[in-house]
Amino acid sequence: APAVIVAIDGPSGTGKSSTSKAVAAQLGLSYLDTGAQYRAITWWMVNNGIDITDPSAIAGAADKPEIVSGTDPSGPTIAVDGTDVAGPIRTEEVTSKVSAVSAVPEVRTRITELQRSIAAGAGAGIVVEGRDIGTTVLPDADLKIFLTASPEARAARRSGELKGADVAATRDSLIKRDAADSGRKTSPLAKAGDAVEVDTTDLTLQQVIECVVTLVEEKR
Ligand code: C5P
Repeated sequence: APAVIVAIDGPSGTGKSSTSKAVAAQLGLSYLDTGAQYRAITWWMVNNGIDITDPSAIAGAADKPEIVSGTDPSGPTIAVDGTDVAGPIRTEEVTSKVSAVSAVPEVRTRITELQRSIAAGAGAGIVVEGRDIGTTVLPDADLKIFLTASPEARAARRSGELKGADVAATRDSLIKRDAADSGRKTSPLAKAGDAVEVDTTDLTLQQVIECVVTLVEEKR
């Protein structure tokens, strides 16, 4: 069978990562977490003293770090200049700064090229999750999914993952990040015209996974 390319976009807390990983594992596909790549470049900027309030400083450094993503859905990895950064990219510091870094066009160009080359090299196919995969990175994807959920459901899920973090504070920080991601000029968070929208508010993770697996199988 030819390689199948699946794009899964949506705001944070909609279950994108859990869904994408499980769908890829069930169907024998590779998996790419593009948010982890933006987090990794942000981590590098923070650690190398780049002023993240200065877009031209970010642009000038955009090509410097080497970012390598491991695409096995049962154990995805992310490394910067040979260092495993899977833990450090999830800190509150990186989370609060990633939208500013990912809004810089030079950063997007660099990371988009990387994503396209990873997708092109995925033998059986790949599930790629992010914000602009269906609209910009892989506009010819075989299947595009746009996941949504109410702000309350998203905040509850995310604070559950963060083990007891304050739901109200988590909700505020999610809403702020989504507004920044949706409002930026270069390839904002958006639903592609030909994407299938799935509202996950009242669905279990298992139901969302089954729904997406069925949609992929219809395309193969
Ligand atoms: O998915 P995750 O929450 O890890 O993404 C972190 C951030 O990376 C997003 O808030 C957004 O600023 C950026 N991002 C992006 N484009 C993507 C994936 C993530 O701009 N395709």
